[in-house]
Amino acid sequence: MTVDHFLSKSYDCSLDEGKIICEAPSNIALVKYWGKFANQMPANPSISFTLNNCKSITSLAFEKKSNLTDFSFDFYFEGEKKPAFEGKIQTFFNRISPYLPFLKNYHFTIKSENTFPHSSGIASSASAMSALSGCLMQLERQLTNLSETDFLNKTSFLSRLGSGSACRSIAGPAMIWGQHANTPHSSDLYAVTFDHLHDNFQNFQDTILLVDKGEKQVSSTVGHELMNNHPFAQNRFKQAHQNLDEMKLALSSGDLEKFIHFTESEALTLHGMMMTSSPYFMLMKPNTLSIINEIWHYRQTENVPLSFTLDAGANVHLLYPDKDKNKVFEFIINRLSLYCQNNQYICDHIGQGLTIK
Ligand code: PMV
Repeated sequence: MTVDHFLSKSYDCSLDEGKIICEAPSNIALVKYWGKFANQMPANPSISFTLNNCKSITSLAFEKKSNLTDFSFDFYFEGEKKPAFEGKIQTFFNRISPYLPFLKNYHFTIKSENTFPHSSGIASSASAMSALSGCLMQLERQLTNLSETDFLNKTSFLSRLGSGSACRSIAGPAMIWGQHANTPHSSDLYAVTFDHLHDNFQNFQDTILLVDKGEKQVSSTVGHELMNNHPFAQNRFKQAHQNLDEMKLALSSGDLEKFIHFTESEALTLHGMMMTSSPYFMLMKPNTLSIINEIWHYRQTENVPLSFTLDAGANVHLLYPDKDKNKVFEFIINRLSLYCQNNQYICDHIGQGLTIK
């Protein structure tokens, strides 16, 4: 499939006004996307769990206007007008306008909020961009006929143009983004659902330990760029293809040992890439390392399949089966929360992707 597939056939903007609400979750990558080219194309394929509780809730009110020469919108975040975000939305609209011909026919009032605290160190771009794309696609669906598959693929396609990993927030329980030889229908343009999860992963838990709630030290745009001249880039991209094979096998067969190995290895490789780029970065904090050591010790002594992954930051995502929830919770409260800023953590689990309200 090429980008042409997502160009809309011409249609009348027959609706004068209305309002759409979309909720979309964040996601956590197991095999990481790190490095991109051209128009938000991933340098390697990735797979993520779709989350459930960490989400953006976005409303899009639209009102038909004639003679608009540019995009026309107001943006509110958590009830307040946020001019700082307007540039991002303008850029996003510029990127997606070839695929949504109605954009300059309406004035939009966009109101967004997150269910997770703003400066918690959790990247909200995945949930925010997929929620906004969901609203826009729902409007397109009201203007023209679209099958459910076309709706989901194009929502993912547009989300990707807002923030790469956002394209993996559309459906659940897991999504694969990026062309991969052993994944039929996989594409660099949008994410596809991976739903062969073994029962061991049903309602799998993700507790996010908030080690550092500050602004990101390195933006993901800068981070991806560091892979352009990275001495290990080609091997890393090759490895991601192999790790995706292994991860799919672990997820479908319920092999928790294999899952833990590849999940943790991917997290450390992502940080390894940052430590070995030029310039180099260390995004883990001393408490991140203490938590990792605690997890390894706990896993050995308690025989609970608890593992971790990391984003491009210091916070730790704890991944574990639903049935071990009570036991792991004791461990979090008694030990791991002591390494968190103000003892804070966020409880989440695998979810099903965006919903239109
Ligand atoms: O979607 P971006 O450009 O913010 O990049 C996300 C990169 C990682 O979160 C580090 C990995 C991933 O695959 O989500």
